Amino acid sequence: MNKEQRSTARAVRIDPDIVLDVHDLIKTYTVGNSTITALNKVSLTVRKGEFIAIQGPSGSGKTTLINCLGALDFPDSGKIIYNVDNKGMGLDVTQMTNKQHKKMRLRKIGLIFQFYNLFPILTAYENVELPMVLDKKDPKVREEKVRNLLKRIGLDERMEHLPTQMSGGEQQRVTIARALVNEPLIILADEPTGELDTETTTNIMKIFLDLKNAGESILMVTHNRRIAEVADRIITLTDGEFVGEKIGGKPIEEIYNF
Ligand SMILES: Nc1ncnc2c1ncn2[C@@H]1O[C@H](COP(=O)(O)OP(=O)(O)OP(=O)(O)O)[C@@H](O)[C@H]1O
Ligand SMILES: [Mg+2]
Repeated sequence: MNKEQRSTARAVRIDPDIVLDVHDLIKTYTVGNSTITALNKVSLTVRKGEFIAIQGPSGSGKTTLINCLGALDFPDSGKIIYNVDNKGMGLDVTQMTNKQHKKMRLRKIGLIFQFYNLFPILTAYENVELPMVLDKKDPKVREEKVRNLLKRIGLDERMEHLPTQMSGGEQQRVTIARALVNEPLIILADEPTGELDTETTTNIMKIFLDLKNAGESILMVTHNRRIAEVADRIITLTDGEFVGEKIGGKPIEEIYNF
């Protein structure tokens, strides 16, 4: 979908229990004379409170999928419908303008990446607060929300720390709080534990499971098959296609024997 073809997305009714409905996504990249099909007719439904893992080898299209779902890139074709008002008003992000994409990322989608992407000159507190500042939220509301979230993820003692003054696991916890601060519809995480040791990975997975149990919807990409097994459903991507799905729900303690 090129820029000229996009206009304001038209609302469609969807099942109010569905957070995200993805249909037949195709994304190709052309480099020189060769065309790579990074996503080949990917379809997926995420229901409220579901924790889904997308697993697959390097180059299978996982990051491409997150980028399209996260309103960071546009697929060539297909639909990505979010239940934007939580009551069944569906809007297709592939039809949106860049300005609407920005709003989706700020308010409706919580993004978490492998390399944390925190602002180095901002403290943990300020990094978490930033999306609320950009969304022009009231300072009192901001303070209460940021403090509560930092407490929830066990970082209330690190509020004034800069990213360089925190461990990798602590930095990733800050990005989780930042992703949650504007109360998004869904958390999209691309290899959130890719840089972490097994103990820290376990702690991050416990936070994800707590969030899921509190009703958050999570889509997590990982190449780590063992980690994927804690999710409710595990979908395998190979060469841009969904090739299998299985039920997860394995206790984290069984995976790493802590
Ligand atoms: N901007 C781009 N331009 C050209 N090709 C790209 C681009 N981004 C990704 N690709 C190609 O698309 C395919 C899917 O890449 P993607 O990054 O989505 O894989 P991945 O599953 O996230 O891999 P990894 O586990 O290594 O992170 C790969 O073949 C990759 O080389
Ligand atoms: Mg990737």
